[in-house]
Amino acid sequence: MRSIIDILDLSTEEINELVHTAEDIIAHPADYAEICHGKKLATLFFEPSTRTRLSFEAAMYELGGNVIGFSEANSSSAAKGESVSDTVKTVSCYADIIAMRHPKEGAPRVASMAASIPVINAGDGGHNHPTQTLADLLTIYRHRHSFSNLKLGLCGDLKFGRTVHSLLNAMSRYEGLEVVLISPDELKLPSYVKKDVLQKNNIPYVQTENLEEALPGLDIIYMTRVQRERFFNEEDYLRLKDTYILTPDKLKGTRDDLMIMHPLPRVNEISVAIDDDPRACYFEQVLNGKYMRMALIMKLLKEAGTI
Ligand code: NCD
Repeated sequence: MRSIIDILDLSTEEINELVHTAEDIIAHPADYAEICHGKKLATLFFEPSTRTRLSFEAAMYELGGNVIGFSEANSSSAAKGESVSDTVKTVSCYADIIAMRHPKEGAPRVASMAASIPVINAGDGGHNHPTQTLADLLTIYRHRHSFSNLKLGLCGDLKFGRTVHSLLNAMSRYEGLEVVLISPDELKLPSYVKKDVLQKNNIPYVQTENLEEALPGLDIIYMTRVQRERFFNEEDYLRLKDTYILTPDKLKGTRDDLMIMHPLPRVNEISVAIDDDPRACYFEQVLNGKYMRMALIMKLLKEAGTI
């Protein structure tokens, strides 16, 4: 049974195929409105979410399917001590596909080994978030018509930010990538990601603490929230949370076609004064996430022989 736990579970050809399917859905939504008729998506969210859960649910409804699930661990039998494996074996009896978010790294992988239906990782701890990356990739593609030769700046919590880890994994497969890692010392990209993704693929990268100096010349600035829920103490969070705030004056001297991205939720990382700048892409990412999740749900259900 095919599950998507890591963005690298999809080949570059499959990512292209998903991008093209999403573009076709955008152009011809009515053609997809009944494809999942009578099928059920289970959203198992053991951690808070707005966009990811609601976009999975909207995606399944727009494919003509239905949704069951829970949005917090406390309202499931996890609160009684049930294991992830037992939960997904149970859900496999009721649904056709699962989207799971969990605070523990690797939980969706464990789930995929116990489930008899496809499992999609909707975010596991500070590890990975492959479907956010699919949203990011469609957004990049719709602006640049290519994934090659991009200078990508990643700013904020590069340590715990799972969207950053998945995006780097995905982008590392395209030619001409250059990476600028912008973070405070305490929130630097984990060395395993540097080694397994950047160094292994000979991707040129620099690390800096200075956002202003890094901005000119970037094709993309990907801002991230400091991941409060992964901190061991509140004092460290409070000290680091407002390290980087992108404001209109910091954008002076940047490229006219700079893409300003953020997986959201935003706390203070991007001033609302930037929202009307045509280079702000973060609400496009939100919408694109729904289309890519529609494309992914269809692909996995077709491969499973369910539709
Ligand atoms: C991200 C996440 O959950 O990792 N949100 C999302 O799914 N768009 C980013 C974050 O929470 O900061």
